[in-house]
Amino acid sequence: MRALVTGAAGFIGSHLVERLADDGWDVVGVDCLTPYYDVGQKRANLDELLGLPNFEFVDADLRTCDLERLLDGIDAVFHQAGQPGVRASWDDFGSYVAHNIEVTQRMLEAVRVKPVSRFVFASSSSVYGDALAYPTREETIPQPKSPYGVTKLAAEHLCGVYARNWGVPTVSLRYFTVFGPRQRPDMAMHRLIEAALSGESFPLFGSGAQVRDFTYVGDIVAANRLAATSDVSPGAVLNVSGGGAMSMTEVIETVERLTDRMIELDRLPVQAGDVDRTSGATDAARSVLGWAPEVSVEEGLARQVEWHRSR
Ligand SMILES: NC(=O)c1ccc[n+]([C@@H]2O[C@H](COP(=O)([O-])OP(=O)(O)OC[C@H]3O[C@@H](n4cnc5c(N)ncnc54)[C@H](O)[C@@H]3O)[C@@H](O)[C@H]2O)c1
Repeated sequence: MRALVTGAAGFIGSHLVERLADDGWDVVGVDCLTPYYDVGQKRANLDELLGLPNFEFVDADLRTCDLERLLDGIDAVFHQAGQPGVRASWDDFGSYVAHNIEVTQRMLEAVRVKPVSRFVFASSSSVYGDALAYPTREETIPQPKSPYGVTKLAAEHLCGVYARNWGVPTVSLRYFTVFGPRQRPDMAMHRLIEAALSGESFPLFGSGAQVRDFTYVGDIVAANRLAATSDVSPGAVLNVSGGGAMSMTEVIETVERLTDRMIELDRLPVQAGDVDRTSGATDAARSVLGWAPEVSVEEGLARQVEWHRSR
């Protein structure tokens, strides 16, 4: 099997490349190393991959590059590339529209013309906003609370449109707060662990009572892997959540315990776009993909702390 992983230099994409290559797939990874966060971290992610014998990297921007060439001989596409981050999406909406909506439409149009056996799209729990019910099921009416969530929902709908009209075999996986080694530096756990190790203060937005359903990156990768090979109806949408819902206060206490350091908190108001709680029902992913999360928040955080220490 030959896979195309978009966003291969990023946090999730780099783990996915490793796993697919380990499983014997030939993998083409594409990324243009956008400057949303330290490009040095993306280069370091790539350095981990470049030694893999069955991996080829293409430095290209999916907004403009020749997709037909990129898809040559590809069986499955794992579309992870995107512009992440809730808070920045207020100020730089054009980037979110271009990288999340327009690029996804370009990719879908390309696989319509040059068919693949599966197109997996990295969607987000952000589509739910402050959800109408918890744990949130896929049928719940999405009501994003941030411009970022709107762009992920639009891209997910495009996957549905291409599935319904052209039979493109899309699967959208709604990831719930992903963590683990190589986590993006704008994400809370990354900044928290760095604060613990450096002694700098951690800006805590809100009271700390906000709850997130954290998902270990290896479990996200496993869901992608299964989504490519399982019998899934085109256009399917599935939650991928770790089930380890925790408040920020509990996360802070866990990081303090794992690093054996106290973290000084810089208390700030809740930010626009932030939701109070996320919690995803996983019955659909369990029955359709035979997937279940395997790594607890405590275990995954311990692995992430090790990664931060080793940098
Ligand atoms: N990390 C999470 O908790 C989370 C949660 C829900 C959904 N997601 C989604 O998962 C995907 C991966 O997230 P991540 O945390 O690994 O982010 P990331 O920023 O680390 O990785 C995304 C990669 O895509 C690349 N990219 C963006 N636009 C591109 C373009 N036009 N052409 C080529 N490359 C491009 C970036 O350079 C980056 O390396 C994203 O689509 C994100 O929206 C992530």
